[in-house]
Amino acid sequence: MAAHAATEETAAPGGAVPVTGERMRRVLGAFCTGVVVVTAMDGDEPVGMACQSFSSLSLDPPLVCFCPGAASTTWPRVRAARRFAVNVLAADQGGLCRAMAGRDKFAGVAWTPGPGGSPLLDGALAWIEADVERELPGGDHAIVVGRVRDLAAGRAARPLLFFRGGFGHALAS
Ligand SMILES: Cc1cc2nc3c(=O)[nH]c(=O)nc-3n(C[C@H](O)[C@H](O)[C@H](O)COP(=O)(O)O)c2cc1C
Repeated sequence: MAAHAATEETAAPGGAVPVTGERMRRVLGAFCTGVVVVTAMDGDEPVGMACQSFSSLSLDPPLVCFCPGAASTTWPRVRAARRFAVNVLAADQGGLCRAMAGRDKFAGVAWTPGPGGSPLLDGALAWIEADVERELPGGDHAIVVGRVRDLAAGRAARPLLFFRGGFGHALAS
């Protein structure tokens, strides 16, 4: 039988270690992901949020998904737009990612409207534009399913990675 990968989580004498939010965040931080910015138009105003919970979901029909937190102020605006773009960030876009997780998100950010009008961020590795198809409950997050309308790969560069609460990048492009 395989040994436990981590001893810290199982070392407490006399029983289970509570599954706290802090422990979830710390342990699941070992799962390395790419980073995207989900964008949409709220009238004339671009809105966006950094997201690591993005995934390709289905090829036929073409679906993607991401998970906005219940406290997100951006997600209700994306929901109202009923359409969003997913911008896959490159290794040199860590600053952009931090900005998109903050308040003054689009200050100095170059973007162009996609075919469906959603903001496409300059310098992204790829973009996917989708219509909101479903919103499912997921605890303190929602699971948003989008039907892909159009998509394209952008420049050839290394991806931005998120691992244990910090940024990294892959060795090969
Ligand atoms: C690398 C990274 C990944 C993130 N992934 C998510 C995510 O998957 N879901 C989410 O709700 N927030 C995520 N966030 C946080 C949001 O970007 C940030 O809290 C949000 O933009 C602020 O909330 P707002 O929607 O009110 O602007 C992430 C932040 C960073 C830096």
